[in-house]
Amino acid sequence: MLDSNVENVKSRLSIDDVISGYLKLEKAGSSLRAKCPFHADKSPSFYVSPQRGIYKCFGCGKSGDIFNFVGEYEGLSFPETLEKLAQKAGVVLEKKNFSESGKKNNKILDCLEDLTIFWQKNLLKNSEVKNYLKKRGLDEKLVKQFKVGYAKDSWNETFLYLKNKSYSEEILEKAGIIKKVEGGKIYDRFRNRIIFPIFDVNGKVVAFSGRDFSGKKDIAKYLNSPETIFFNKSEILFGFNFAKFKIREFGFTIVVEGQMDLLMSHKIGYSNSVASSGTSLTEGHLKKILPISDKIVFCYDGDDAGEEASYRGAVKALSLGFNVKVADFPEKKDPADVILKDPEDYKKIIKDSLDIINFYTNRIIKKNISLHEKIKLLEEKIIPLIFNVKNPMEREVYINSIAKNFEIGNESILKSLNIYKENFEEEKKKTNFRKKFQEKNENQNIEKKTEKGIIEPVKEKILKQLIGIYFWQKNIARKDDFKINENDLEKIIENIEVKNFSDKLEKKDLDKISFDMEILYLDTDKKVLEKEVNELFLRLSEFLKKEEFENLQRKLKQAELSKDLNLLEKIKKKINDLYKNI
Ligand code: CTP
Ligand code: MN
Repeated sequence: MLDSNVENVKSRLSIDDVISGYLKLEKAGSSLRAKCPFHADKSPSFYVSPQRGIYKCFGCGKSGDIFNFVGEYEGLSFPETLEKLAQKAGVVLEKKNFSESGKKNNKILDCLEDLTIFWQKNLLKNSEVKNYLKKRGLDEKLVKQFKVGYAKDSWNETFLYLKNKSYSEEILEKAGIIKKVEGGKIYDRFRNRIIFPIFDVNGKVVAFSGRDFSGKKDIAKYLNSPETIFFNKSEILFGFNFAKFKIREFGFTIVVEGQMDLLMSHKIGYSNSVASSGTSLTEGHLKKILPISDKIVFCYDGDDAGEEASYRGAVKALSLGFNVKVADFPEKKDPADVILKDPEDYKKIIKDSLDIINFYTNRIIKKNISLHEKIKLLEEKIIPLIFNVKNPMEREVYINSIAKNFEIGNESILKSLNIYKENFEEEKKKTNFRKKFQEKNENQNIEKKTEKGIIEPVKEKILKQLIGIYFWQKNIARKDDFKINENDLEKIIENIEVKNFSDKLEKKDLDKISFDMEILYLDTDKKVLEKEVNELFLRLSEFLKKEEFENLQRKLKQAELSKDLNLLEKIKKKINDLYKNI
């Protein structure tokens, strides 16, 4: 079912059309190329083959078809990608086999959507709430874009509205909208709150965050939906559905803490902002951003809690290979406050953000504490950061600057680093051991498989290259474009080893291999390529002789063991002949 959908979509979209919606492609032979969007690419090493419907980056190795590209570029799951491309292709997806649970899941999303609209309407009717938002700096355009709403001060308005729309209690509970108390009484989770819908990467509403509108002291200022099948707090980043298109453009991501901060940051043009909104930033969050940009700026509140939160996030980011900066906000001020007062101040703060190590070093130096306490903080906070800097030169620069700032020798910093490293590795060993112990049985098979996959036999490599060249050349329509004499070309496929190997390959693997060769020899001229082919044949024949030689030696041993003198003589002769040949 799924397959026919995929094939249907694929047959209607050309890969160059799809990818040129994201990247500027230029011609390169019969392929197209661009700077790779998946790694920091200096010269264009990302190639697209329209004939084969695939792309490959020769810098980072990423490759695939339109589904892989769009999925990775936009951070979509496979079904999401399929849906998106089907729409582009004008294909109506067949959903005949939708399971019962699939139908229920759709109902949950429908219900969240309905409720979003309901709350948006509530907001438009309430001038008190509207005024409040205006006062906080949220204009109409922003409120509309982020589908901000208002849940009235009622115990069951939401419940009744949705029940009326014939959503079952089960759906409402699974959507995280109602709460059931003992005795079976049902009430609304969100009451008297300004509602910020939380979107998934595709912009579908999957949860809500509600800000209290009563101003009562004993009430949590923000209340979020519970985790549901669609809302995984450690995966979903608030604002990412909008930001994902802009992060690349800006070349970095801004991370803020709160909903207000996020909306305000978008409002003044920083649409490359995302928010962790109420949970700490996880590796799952960071890994969503990393393929788009490895530069990140933390814009957390200028208080101890904010500093602590950005520190924890920053360490994670650093260890994943991000280039991390931290923006310095005034005491007790967050991005929303600063932007409301003057957007220019925010811009300046972002511009002046310091790389993480200098930021925290400065903080410690400025603190009004004893030298002893400062050294302790250095040990606790800065050493782990330096440990996570992977570039040795960068590391040295930091060590030098810290040594100077704290008036200590480089050697003692190195010693501390070593101690930290030892502890770290000890910890890692322990967790690894625990993990291994737990997963031992399940993983045994998988491990073996990958081990085998890594070492590609020499023979296979040579065969792949020859076949690749053959099919690449064969697929070029005009013979004038041939980069190899036709006789030589046919010689390739006439070789029995090559032929056998090629018969075993699937079409998609053949495509991949010939694309590799096309790019590899794109700028090579005819003479050189012909020489290369001859050399490949030479290496192949040497390899085959070596194989035969090893084979004969094995037989020789067996013959020696069985004391079959006749056979022994025969084999020895064969080995001798082979030697002469080499
Ligand atoms: N938060 C939360 N639960 C709380 C308080 C805060 O989930 N009880 C999350 C919210 O995402 C919030 C962020 O942490 O936006 C930052 O909290 P805080 O600084 O207290 O709120 P502000 O963003 O300043 O709130 P506002 O500007 O709306 O007053
Ligand atoms: Mn605030």
